[in-house]
Amino acid sequence: MISTDVARELLARWDAQQERYAFQREERFDVICGVLKAFDVSGPVVDLGCGPGSLAARIALHIPDAQPIGVDADPFLLALGKAAYPGVEFVQAMIGDAGWERCLEPYSAPSAVVSSTALHYPSTSVLGAIYRDLARLLPTGAVLINADMFPLSCAILDTAASALPGQDWIGEDWNSWWESVQRDPRVAAALSARARTALPEGGDNGLSAEAHITLMQIAGFRAVGEVWRHGRSAVIVAAR
Ligand SMILES: C[S@@+](CC[C@H](N)C(=O)[O-])C[C@H]1O[C@@H](n2cnc3c(N)ncnc32)[C@H](O)[C@@H]1O
Repeated sequence: MISTDVARELLARWDAQQERYAFQREERFDVICGVLKAFDVSGPVVDLGCGPGSLAARIALHIPDAQPIGVDADPFLLALGKAAYPGVEFVQAMIGDAGWERCLEPYSAPSAVVSSTALHYPSTSVLGAIYRDLARLLPTGAVLINADMFPLSCAILDTAASALPGQDWIGEDWNSWWESVQRDPRVAAALSARARTALPEGGDNGLSAEAHITLMQIAGFRAVGEVWRHGRSAVIVAAR
């Protein structure tokens, strides 16, 4: 068991290091919550690749009628989230594996699916299948929101977007956060479960926002487009 205090300490550092990979991350979370309110969501809201549940926890805070459900393959990050965020349900699954969506069977149909800095992991073909699964899962009127760093299609503009001010990071990054956690005796027991678990391969499909939008449209979403962008960091909304 990870104590709430230890989880909160590690999650404060998680959120700080994630800013590197989710430029303007807190503003992005605000945008996602704003879109969820605009769609008047209530009940189950699924956070795909939730990690320790930073986004799901903000949804619990800002949308009291929502029931956030975080899905991730990493048992250690899920254990951190469970210790810190009692308002969030956490479910372990490898998203994209055959039948992965059965992990949501205990819940009623979601009114929204959100994701933050996670859907760059699956290959293009697996991501296309995930978007088709989501189109089947979500009822008419529901919404899919994907926030991530999307390279711009034009290389010159992408270089400019990557060089915007405010991206001169100091402090922990993904690797140094994990290295420090691996050395932390307070979480050794929870880490042993991680060592026995198959984790997602940490690749990057490199897809632009336009490519995601096309995959969502092919999957059956209507009214798909970007609602917010800062450099490479953007939020895509797809109405079912
Ligand atoms: C960079 S972290 C972001 C976590 C969280 N969304 C956030 O913003 O703090 C990406 C997360 O996606 C999860 N992930 C990636 N691919 C996955 C898959 N196929 N199934 C389940 N989880 C996955 C990883 O385990 C990791 O927790």
